[in-house]
Amino acid sequence: MTASPSLPRAEFHAAAERFGTPLYVYDAAELDAALARVRAAFGEARVFYALKANPNLTLIARLRAAGVGFECVSAGEIARAEHVGAEGGSILVNGPAKSREEYEAGARLGATFIVDREEEARLLPPGSRALVRVNPALSVSTHDHLATGAAGSKFGVTPEQAPGVLRALREAGHTALGLHVHIGSAIRLATDFGAAFARLAGLRAHTGELEVLDVGGGWGLGADLPGIAREAREAAGAFGAEVWVEPGRYLVARAGTLLTRVVGTKRTGRNFLLTDAGMTELLRPMLYGAVHPLTPLWDGGAEETWDVAGPACESGDLLARDVTLPLPHPGDLLAVGDAGAYGAAMSGTYLTRPRPAEALWEGGEWRLIRRRETPQEVWAAEV
Ligand SMILES: Cc1ncc(COP(=O)(O)O)c(C=O)c1O
Repeated sequence: MTASPSLPRAEFHAAAERFGTPLYVYDAAELDAALARVRAAFGEARVFYALKANPNLTLIARLRAAGVGFECVSAGEIARAEHVGAEGGSILVNGPAKSREEYEAGARLGATFIVDREEEARLLPPGSRALVRVNPALSVSTHDHLATGAAGSKFGVTPEQAPGVLRALREAGHTALGLHVHIGSAIRLATDFGAAFARLAGLRAHTGELEVLDVGGGWGLGADLPGIAREAREAAGAFGAEVWVEPGRYLVARAGTLLTRVVGTKRTGRNFLLTDAGMTELLRPMLYGAVHPLTPLWDGGAEETWDVAGPACESGDLLARDVTLPLPHPGDLLAVGDAGAYGAAMSGTYLTRPRPAEALWEGGEWRLIRRRETPQEVWAAEV
């Protein structure tokens, strides 16, 4: 699959020259446009960006300046939110196995906790604000690893348990604001979300009115946001609750592109196009079979079918399979699109490969927002 990235080719070349490759680049205009689309669809709903999608400080500081809160799942993410000036009221602390450090950091800031099991009523710091995560036990149209609301998933309590957990929280002196549901990631069908939200709305008779219905995130690119928003409002209406949302991917994916240079080609029965980025920079193709749009930034020779392979000594280290691209030369630049979410965030230092640099295109110029790591930084904590 190929697609045109949002910026002119010359700007990608300029960024690659200046900062080197592999390089993540982001288009600020597309970041703003994505948030505008969310706000247009969800109106008054409170938006908590799921930091896991891309926690870069510059990107999250921009979101905070636009009035967005944060959903955090680790002490590190809470520290990032605090670092960009987020206050407790705009922080959600989530996770199926929170540590003492995470409870303490959340409590110090006055964050709202998303409770994943009844025992947390005893573990939460005194007088906490909390939502109860419900697993609606539904199968949805996404990769198995991306489904979090299926029967057998480790997340949340069953719908039958949820009213009892709300009661347990109140009896323990906490403020139980309402319910939370997040059914997975990269889901496009509003009907999948509608089924999950309706499962929660069905609990109304057992819960009474609630202040908040947090419907999570999980919206794939191209998802029907107005349709999902309609379903959310309808379910929240059953409780007299306000809607909270936690988009990750939707806010940052499209704005991001991974730039990688062609190292060479090789023909062994299959055609391999070798690049200087692979699984250590972009794990999603290997982890989920994710398909990212590829744009060759060279003037091409004849088109052929390629497997795009990274430099790691792992057979699974492929950025794409069976893609049609023109014959490249070493040094040509390939743009891997829709890479702003779970791209840099999941990059790793396997093989002592330093994590890539990141740059933001804003106001007609590039700005480095994360410098490339060095090998020495990769081993700096080793004794
Ligand atoms: C509870 C919760 N909320 C929000 C998100 C964000 O999901 P997405 O990036 O698909 O919108 C996740 C992702 O795993 C999540 O677990």
